[in-house]
Amino acid sequence: MSDRIPNTPPLPTEVARRRTFAIISHPDAGKTTLTEKFLLYGGAIQMAGQVRAKGEARRTRSDFMKLEQERGISVSASAMSFPFRDWWFNLVDTPGHSDFSEDTYRTLTAVDAAVMVIDGAKGVESQTRKLFEVCRMRDLPILTFCNKMDREARDTFEIIDEIQQELQLDVCPASWPIGQGREFLGCYDMLNDRLELMDRADRNKRAESVKMQGLDDPRMAEHIPADQLEKLREEVAMARELLPTFDARALLDGNLSLIWFGSAINSFGVQELMAGIGAFGPPPEVAPAEPRAVGAWEKPVTGFVFKVQANMDPKHRDRVAFLRLCSGHFERGMKLQHVRTGKPMAVANPMLFLAQDREIAEDAWAGDIIGIPNHGQLRIGDALTEGETLRFTGIPSFAPELLQAVRAGDPMKAKHLEKALTQFAEEGASKLFKPAVGSGWIVGVVGPLQFDVLASRIEQEYSLPVRFEPTQFTSARWVSGPRDKVEEFARANRGHMAEDHDGDPVFMTRLQWDIDRVGRDWPDLRLTATKETM
Ligand code: G4P
Repeated sequence: MSDRIPNTPPLPTEVARRRTFAIISHPDAGKTTLTEKFLLYGGAIQMAGQVRAKGEARRTRSDFMKLEQERGISVSASAMSFPFRDWWFNLVDTPGHSDFSEDTYRTLTAVDAAVMVIDGAKGVESQTRKLFEVCRMRDLPILTFCNKMDREARDTFEIIDEIQQELQLDVCPASWPIGQGREFLGCYDMLNDRLELMDRADRNKRAESVKMQGLDDPRMAEHIPADQLEKLREEVAMARELLPTFDARALLDGNLSLIWFGSAINSFGVQELMAGIGAFGPPPEVAPAEPRAVGAWEKPVTGFVFKVQANMDPKHRDRVAFLRLCSGHFERGMKLQHVRTGKPMAVANPMLFLAQDREIAEDAWAGDIIGIPNHGQLRIGDALTEGETLRFTGIPSFAPELLQAVRAGDPMKAKHLEKALTQFAEEGASKLFKPAVGSGWIVGVVGPLQFDVLASRIEQEYSLPVRFEPTQFTSARWVSGPRDKVEEFARANRGHMAEDHDGDPVFMTRLQWDIDRVGRDWPDLRLTATKETM
């Protein structure tokens, strides 16, 4: 059992064994491969290779959707649950491409820890850094996996040093690699005093694991050639002297990370990492909310929607809201209160996500992610409770950085298009603005690739070819302040005003100067680039 925040009530056994986490990494570091191995050891898939699509196809843009089906893992975040030893893991998948960052940020509000995967040859890369910053904002505990040690990698001290310097994060080695590239034999498990040896012949086989009596154990020499053994002893002695020692509290506070070295493709180091997530990763604890924070030990069921996804199954035109449970023991059929509308909602067909299959969830506990099929009632940020009026905080919505007008190829299909666009906006895939003047729609996204994905989804899911075209606007800002002032402002700037899909007022412009001017001329108003989803 991991350390917990002092003076908090005991957690129910089922909650205490939950570990809800995400993997963050730069594309290509090995997140998919590692996910696949997690599922393999979690018994969720029988054989590695089921999850991933073949090489090239993965990278072509138009294949994103097909890819989703082939892999069974969605390009936008989805959740997978599986047992490992005494624990129950909920792995929330984050989309790797930087264009999907908003989705990723929101996903990180639904987890209690993150596994950071880095490539042993490349170290900390741009996307790792960005995602890490989000984790830091939330003080998420980070466990690090340094992958691809079967290839030429950097010097171990150099890798650790880079993480410490670049991310301002103390790093304590949980394992120490023995050689690298062709010479890579395995690792010395510094936490458990074991020698873990890699089996190069069989990628899916468990590695050999030998209990040692310290580094001077004579049996070491039976497994490691003399020169490598000498180097290992020297390096580990140096690491123990120079690097931070393990401190469970510092890990939980997000100030120190443990690092494991391994090779996901060879299944090496993965089980040790999983055991580390279990032993040191936190169980669900406290979720920030207004007017009070919610403890995972509380009996009444509460949770919030952090993601909405449409048409996961092309045969059903449904939407699935992903709910992170923050407290209580949820049972199928329960009636919960939908806080935003004040209406009761019977959750008859909740889903748990077990690799490619979705199954009806009979019950679920704080920390779990359940999927709730619905017809659009549930939106990102919505809270479900047993009656209490709560709002979970910290779920961001970002102003889009790219705006384009959208047209249906067939003008008769405008209503249809509106429906599709509203759906994607509610899903959080894009922003939708209805300008106060004129009849069209403006779609906003954070990265250019999202336009391609949207066009392809509208065509596939609604049989509606669409075109995106440049508009005169490049920025959108939400307008807030006293109601009469907002209305006065909207009247004075009609040509720049729009409503988002929630009906909130938005100011659109192409000039930063305009935004600064509003700040000066309308001191009662606030123009913001993010809106916290209610
Ligand atoms: P990502 O999701 O983070 O983008 O990475 P992914 O797992 O897809 O891995 C990226 C590439 O790195 C893949 O090769 C994968 O096989 C390889 N890889 C992952 N882990 C290891 C490892 O431990 N050692 C080595 N040597 N390679 C690893 P690819 O050629 O792009 O794809 P594929 O043809 O193997 O499918």
